[in-house]
Amino acid sequence: DLSSINSYQPFEYDTGLKVLADSSNLKAVPSKFNYTNQPNALTSDSIPVIDFSALTDPDQRSKAIHDIARACQEWGFFILVNHGIPEELMNAVSKATKEFFDLPEGEKKQYEAKSASDPIKCGNFNVTTTSNQTFTLWRDYLKLYVHPEFHCPLKPKVLREVLLEYSERTRKLARELVEAVSETLELEKQYVDQVLKLHSSFQMFAANFYPPCPQPDQAIGIPPHTDPGLFTFLIHNGVAGLQIQHDGQWFNAESPRNSILVNVADQLEIFTNGRCKSVMHRAVVNSERERMSIVVANGPSSEAVVGPAAPLVKRDGRAFYRPMKYEEYVVSQLTKSRLDGKPILEQM
Ligand code: SIN
Ligand code: FE2
Repeated sequence: DLSSINSYQPFEYDTGLKVLADSSNLKAVPSKFNYTNQPNALTSDSIPVIDFSALTDPDQRSKAIHDIARACQEWGFFILVNHGIPEELMNAVSKATKEFFDLPEGEKKQYEAKSASDPIKCGNFNVTTTSNQTFTLWRDYLKLYVHPEFHCPLKPKVLREVLLEYSERTRKLARELVEAVSETLELEKQYVDQVLKLHSSFQMFAANFYPPCPQPDQAIGIPPHTDPGLFTFLIHNGVAGLQIQHDGQWFNAESPRNSILVNVADQLEIFTNGRCKSVMHRAVVNSERERMSIVVANGPSSEAVVGPAAPLVKRDGRAFYRPMKYEEYVVSQLTKSRLDGKPILEQM
């Protein structure tokens, strides 16, 4: 279980990056943040946009689920509009999260990460990439386990209430998307429920705060990686910075107001035996404006053993991935010192 990794300490809490960026008139990126491997990104108008309301319209459902499945297969990413989560709720989550980052350092210190398994943790952290670069991310983070057990800092007070609701609504949305994909693959609903155990889905909340960076090409918010789970949902404060990889090229993931950026995560790739693609993405920083992103990683149950769905293995003649208990997968991801690439998506 998660407590078995208590002795491992990959996290390091310095003075919050926010304080460093606020207090000093930084002209250059301090060397510990140096990261210089950022190929250019393009802007594309062919990133899929999915209208969620079409799913509940009997005349449009069949086309809508096929559009979702195609987006998951071709891009591993889409922009979700008309998703039904009230804009006021999303704004309230953003506001309360920002208030957390704005707390005095002393208040946040009690949540500084001591172990990877802490259900509430914050700070900034060091990463070693597969090409052996070690550096600190240009980012402060807050990470919470919000389901099946709900964990939340006590301050700001409003955070608990808004996160409980956001967590519930996003879980429901994730479940509907998983069901839509499963339907196009002709997987039976009971089969999906039984294997992924979505009623006790392991859900993580992560907020990222990226202060303006004096040399944005000398640092990175988050280097290229894929996410654990089935679907990740991302909202942000209107400042662009998320980039996704598609056909070997990086693209800016820009999003209309009130939309949710959705990416396919590793367990959906595994479960669909590779049909859906867990998309490689990264967060770049800019010199002008602070950016905040709010991420919800929607997983199967931590008890679920996720491997390629049996009916798909039968169709394909073989399984392309090794089954693994989701909890073990999360632990292996939390405790690896390398963040970039797709290294733990074990292919057979
Ligand atoms: C993430 O990958 O978790 C966050 C990316 C972003 O901030 O856009
Ligand atoms: Fe991510």
